[in-house]
Amino acid sequence: MDYNEGYRAKSVGAFTESLHKFYTASGIEQLLQVQDVRLLDICLGGGSNLAVTLDRLLSVEHRHRLHIVTVERQSSLFDTIRQNRFMWPYRGYELLRRLISDGQAENVRLDIAIGDARNIIRDMPLKFDVVYFDPFGKRKNPEMWTEAVFRDVYRLCTDIGRAATYSSGREIREDFVRAGFRYTVTPKPEGAFQEGTVFYKV
Ligand SMILES: C[S@@+](CC[C@H](N)C(=O)[O-])C[C@H]1O[C@@H](n2cnc3c(N)ncnc32)[C@H](O)[C@@H]1O
Repeated sequence: MDYNEGYRAKSVGAFTESLHKFYTASGIEQLLQVQDVRLLDICLGGGSNLAVTLDRLLSVEHRHRLHIVTVERQSSLFDTIRQNRFMWPYRGYELLRRLISDGQAENVRLDIAIGDARNIIRDMPLKFDVVYFDPFGKRKNPEMWTEAVFRDVYRLCTDIGRAATYSSGREIREDFVRAGFRYTVTPKPEGAFQEGTVFYKV
């Protein structure tokens, strides 16, 4: 309500956008088959990106450990997720609810950072292999789409680190490149109105 904005693309819906532009595009599933992975979830929102990720990973055999740090300014969202049993995908949200309550389950650890993401990532002592970069769009949420923020994301990436986002804005891509990244285009899922982008440290 503060941003007068919806959480996900109305065109394809939450599940498809999370699956296509974040889970699949980031390559997190493949990484987890070869190593432990640390994921920085910038802006939990309704938890769709995490729930879809957890839902898929429950089907992956022999995966390594996943450590998630999620960042969100609106603390009530954690209660919303915990109190709503109908959110879909069920299995993914069920695991996310356990993680919010206990911090650890199914070879996954979740740490929660509540506050302004700009301050949290500036002071973050950890490095990440995968970043889900998912604030609202630049018009409504301009403070998150600055070169200074992208530089902090770059600094937080490991050598194999990559940041996936739903956005394809030309200026945004240029600013990420100025911050040190190169990028690949995530093709539009059928029916979507824009491509996504994955930014790589190396
Ligand atoms: C598009 S929604 C995130 C959707 C979410 N990733 C999902 O999968 O459901 C954007 C979220 O960013 C949060 N947000 C925006 N600016 C922020 C900031 N500076 N610090 C922390 N959270 C912020 C909003 O509170 C909102 O919940």
